[in-house]
Amino acid sequence: MNCFLKRTNSIKIKTFGTYLLQITLRKVQKNDWDFILELRNKFYHFFYKQKKSIPKKEHYEYMEKQKQNSNFHQWIIIYDKKDAGYVRILDNDVGIMVDDKFQNKGIASKALNLAENEAAKLGIKKLIALIAVDNDSSKKIFEKNNYSLKQFWYEKDIA
Ligand SMILES: CC(C)(COP(=O)(O)OP(=O)(O)OC[C@H]1O[C@@H](n2cnc3c(N)ncnc32)[C@H](O)[C@@H]1OP(=O)(O)O)[C@@H](O)C(=O)NCCC(=O)NCCS
Repeated sequence: MNCFLKRTNSIKIKTFGTYLLQITLRKVQKNDWDFILELRNKFYHFFYKQKKSIPKKEHYEYMEKQKQNSNFHQWIIIYDKKDAGYVRILDNDVGIMVDDKFQNKGIASKALNLAENEAAKLGIKKLIALIAVDNDSSKKIFEKNNYSLKQFWYEKDIA
């Protein structure tokens, strides 16, 4: 997987030798909320805060509330003209989800680069990612993109 061309809001990746597919980010609109919910409910076991599948009403309330949050930024990841995933920045925390059928093509890594460009334009100086220790593909994308490990997080259920 090769990065072929880098621009501020679009990256082309090379697959199968010569076949070029473009990755772009576009701002989330309300009609994307169901897609985002689908991803959240598919992948919640990777997240710390979300413990179970959430109903549409709760998700919509959350999304509605975040409209007022000037530190919340979110985009749909477009790959080969299709909605392939989602990236959001909440304060400094960046989170990415890529739908199963699009995984392992370098999409998250390139989407992270694009989100960093957008974050820089927004005046964000640092991004962090909270990753479960067994989330190997997620660790890989951040390590590949020069994020450094800063903390360990220990916890124990005591009740
Ligand atoms: C994490 C996630 C976003 C990665 O998306 P993706 O588009 O597949 O990521 P990329 O293709 O850019 O990179 C994945 C890398 O992990 C590697 N990888 C995949 N599975 C792996 C595993 N089990 N162990 C180690 N590495 C693995 C891939 O080979 C690839 O590395 P490479 O580019 O050097 O070949 C996607 O798996 C996902 O949505 N997971 C569920 C949600 C989540 O955990 N999000 C992260 C929270 S921020």
